[in-house]
Amino acid sequence: MCGIVGYTGAKEAAPVLVAGLRRLEYRGYDSAGMAAVEAGSIELRKQAGRVQVLEELLRWDPVAATNGVGHTRWATHGRADDVNAHPHVGGREGRRSVAVVHNGVIENYAALRRELEAEGFAFRSQTDTEVVAHLMARELERGDEPLDALLRVLPRLEGTYGLAMVTADRPGELLGARLGSPLVVGVGEGEHFLASDPVAVAPYTANVAYLQDGEAVRVTPRDFEVRHRERGPIAPRIDRIDWKPDAVELGGHAHYMLKEIREQPDTATNACRGRLVRAEGSARLGGLNMTARQLRRVRRVVLAACGTSWHAALVGEYLIERLAHLPVEVEYAGEFRYRNGPLDDRTLVIVLSQSGETADTLGALRESRRRGHPTLAIVNTVGSTIAREADGGVYLHAGPEIGVASTKAFSAQVAVLALLALHLGRLRQLSFTEGAAVVDALGSAPALIGEALKAEPAVEAAADRIAQARSVLFLGRDLHYPVALEGALKLKEISYIHAEGYPTSEMKHGPIALIDPQTPSVFVAPRGPLHAKTLSNIEEVRARRGPIVSVGLADDEDLARLSDHVLPIPDAPEVIQPLLAVVPLQLLAYHVARIKGCDIDKPRNLAKSVTVE
Ligand code: AGP
Repeated sequence: MCGIVGYTGAKEAAPVLVAGLRRLEYRGYDSAGMAAVEAGSIELRKQAGRVQVLEELLRWDPVAATNGVGHTRWATHGRADDVNAHPHVGGREGRRSVAVVHNGVIENYAALRRELEAEGFAFRSQTDTEVVAHLMARELERGDEPLDALLRVLPRLEGTYGLAMVTADRPGELLGARLGSPLVVGVGEGEHFLASDPVAVAPYTANVAYLQDGEAVRVTPRDFEVRHRERGPIAPRIDRIDWKPDAVELGGHAHYMLKEIREQPDTATNACRGRLVRAEGSARLGGLNMTARQLRRVRRVVLAACGTSWHAALVGEYLIERLAHLPVEVEYAGEFRYRNGPLDDRTLVIVLSQSGETADTLGALRESRRRGHPTLAIVNTVGSTIAREADGGVYLHAGPEIGVASTKAFSAQVAVLALLALHLGRLRQLSFTEGAAVVDALGSAPALIGEALKAEPAVEAAADRIAQARSVLFLGRDLHYPVALEGALKLKEISYIHAEGYPTSEMKHGPIALIDPQTPSVFVAPRGPLHAKTLSNIEEVRARRGPIVSVGLADDEDLARLSDHVLPIPDAPEVIQPLLAVVPLQLLAYHVARIKGCDIDKPRNLAKSVTVE
């Protein structure tokens, strides 16, 4: 989950690297560092802490070079301290012949470290990455091209890597390689970049070349050369970033998370743009790469994902079963990939991922493809590994999501799953009239999400109460059970208050034992066929003096009578209600974390994209 930036061109590298690292800091923020080649030797600046610490270090001890690599770290091996911060240098007797930054895990690093120590290489850190630096240093001693040296090192590495490096004898030249962890080349005019995410280079160029697994690259100010470990020279494809650089700016909002919560009306618009076909009462999804006949043959759907994407998948289960009458199983990707469940050859596997790089989800995708299942990916990040390796898929078009706590991606995933459920349903039994109603509902979602955002003042009042809680229960029925789970995840991951989501019906089977005046319950309770049952469950909590926050209609007098706080949402067709109900819960988590003074965009221990198992 670390951030990698490299630059070579005419500009001073340090400011470019620091600016890029700031844009990537949401990916991991335990430490930051950079290395550059200056007058034939490698300058190294690195320290535990945020990118700001590196910036201050560079103010005191600047580096004037016009090339370099930078890194923000999410610790996997070794504590988050100065010594373990990247870059790591390689060379005998303390010589710095190469500096390396790395994202991923070298699983055989211990054996490699023993081998290198036996040859006299002295290690300074506890990281797995340092073995790459010394392996490179050893190969460079043979005196041939650094890219050839790198291509000899890569087969020794087991695990995953996105690598970027500079070598002392080649000022102005960067090297990179990828296996299971993203790396792109930013293609500029007289300058080139390396980055683990195009977000880092967006202010300088919209042209990027996504490296594929097994590829290595040599980058100079004028050009770049890609070679595959086995296949040799590769003609890279240049893609164009489809969003504007300011999409990653705060734009006057206090936090990225708040900005992205408030972007959700546009998110719903963008997810559905060009995909609603009112005249057919259906949805058009271009990238499925599956014919209507192939889709009709599908007898079961498996949705595999992690975290928030798993919650979106749970909403998808209800939608696909309701609209397409297809049995759906939702699986934690990390479990699904090893469980070896009995799936027949009529099973379609769909993975969901905002980043498109989550290791567990990628593993589930690869295992499904290995077993011969057709696979689809619902992904936000264009050109990401998961997007490229699935047989087909649907992009969210939500733009970069910077806040570590996922918000707009959840909404986009739910909207796309509704489109997919509609598409599958209209290939089966769903009538034109029923399909047209879904089209109209999705078309009305942006405005209704905008209405739901107006609940913020009521949310702030409830947040004061929740911020004192030791633990919070989130409860919802049917389509709102996944929304309750998502509300609980949001609260716990940015405010560090323990929270659990349950189906409301489950309250009396155990969780009700937790109810007391210090343990609030948050009910997702818009009107619907199960509303009366939910009101009964709320009464059970009131009878035990549990504080109650409810998400529901502003004119629901029964709900208001029973609740200490009502977070109002507009009435809406059932199929889009999750898109509305999640908004006050996202805002609730945000304001509770704000009240508690938590680091909302970079919560402790987390990273935006979990590219390790
Ligand atoms: C959600 O707020 C978390 N950041 C996390 O659970 C995330 O949803 C999960 O890691 C999956 O990420 P992905 O969608 O990029 O695969």
